[in-house]
Amino acid sequence: MVMETTLSVDDLILPLFVTFGKGIRNEIKSMPGHYQLSVDNLTKEVKEIKSLGIPAVILFGIPEHKDEVGSEAYNPKGIVQQAIKTIKNKAPELMVITDVCMCEYTSHGHCGMIKQGDVDNDATLELLAKEALSHTKAGADMVAPSDMMDGRVGAIRKILDENNFNHIPIMSYAAKYASAFYGPFREAAESIPQFGDRRSYQMDPANSDEAIREVRFDIEEGADIIMVKPALPYLDIIRRVKQEFNYPVAAYNVSGEFSMIKAASKLGWMDGERAMMESLISIKRAGADLILTYFAKEAAKIIER
Ligand code: PBG
Repeated sequence: MVMETTLSVDDLILPLFVTFGKGIRNEIKSMPGHYQLSVDNLTKEVKEIKSLGIPAVILFGIPEHKDEVGSEAYNPKGIVQQAIKTIKNKAPELMVITDVCMCEYTSHGHCGMIKQGDVDNDATLELLAKEALSHTKAGADMVAPSDMMDGRVGAIRKILDENNFNHIPIMSYAAKYASAFYGPFREAAESIPQFGDRRSYQMDPANSDEAIREVRFDIEEGADIIMVKPALPYLDIIRRVKQEFNYPVAAYNVSGEFSMIKAASKLGWMDGERAMMESLISIKRAGADLILTYFAKEAAKIIER
C-alpha cells in the first residue's frame, strides 16, 4: 500500500538485432538469450513479444555490406526497412522504433561521415535525416537518433515534416555518455570503431550540467522523448533531466548492465532475477518513464505472475 514506485510491462522497450541472410539465429555470446535474427525469424520472436504484452521494440540492423557513407542505412530494401515491414505486417499494434545511427553501416564503425580522419558533424546530418525518412517510409512508428551529432533532431524533424510524417515522434538519445558499458552491444551490432573512439561526440562521464544542455538542445529542436544512456551509472542524470524538463524520459539499461548481472548470476555470485528487478525499479524511481532493456522479456514474465 505504501509502495512508491511500480514497474509495468508497459514501461518496457525490447531491443532487437536484425541481420541479413535466412534462417539465422546467432546467439550473442556476451548477452545470453539475445540473438542476431534474420528477417524470416522475426515472426516467431514478435509473437512471443506480443504475448508477453511488451508494447514496443527498438531495431538495430546488421547489413550485409558496409561502406564509407553507410549506404545501407537508407536503402529502401535495407535490413531494418525489411524488418519494419515484416513486424508491422505480423503485429501491427506492436510499436516499432528504429535506432537511427551510422555506426552499424559504416566500414569504419563510426557514427558519422569521416573527413580528414575525424567524424564530420554537419556532413553526417544529411545522412541521418535520409536514414530516418527511409525507416519512416518503411512503416516505423518512431525514430530514435543515437549518433549524438549536434543538430540531428532538427534535421530529422525537418525532413519528416516535409514528407508528411509530422505525426511521427522522435525519441532522442539526448544524454549519451562515452561508456565502457556498450561493450557487448558493439559485438552484437558489429559496430566497433576501427580507429579512435567515440569521445569526440559522446559525453564525458564526469559531466552533469552538460547533459542538461544537450537535452535542452534536443527539446528545442523537437524531440518528443528524451533518453539518458546508460541507465544505472547515471541515475542522477535521469533524475535531473526529469526534474528540469518534465518531459517523457527514457533510460537505456545498456548491454553491459545486462551482461554484468548475467555473468555474476551464472557464476552464482548474485541472484540474477532479483538484481534485474532491483535495477529496473531503481531506474523508474530515479524518474524514467520508459526503459529500454534486454531484460524486457524476463521482467515481463515476472511482472505478470
Ligand atoms: C549507437 C548505439 C550504441 C548503443 C545503442 N546505439 C553503441 C555505441 O554508441 O557505441 C549501445 C546500446 C547498448 O550497449 O546496449 N548506434
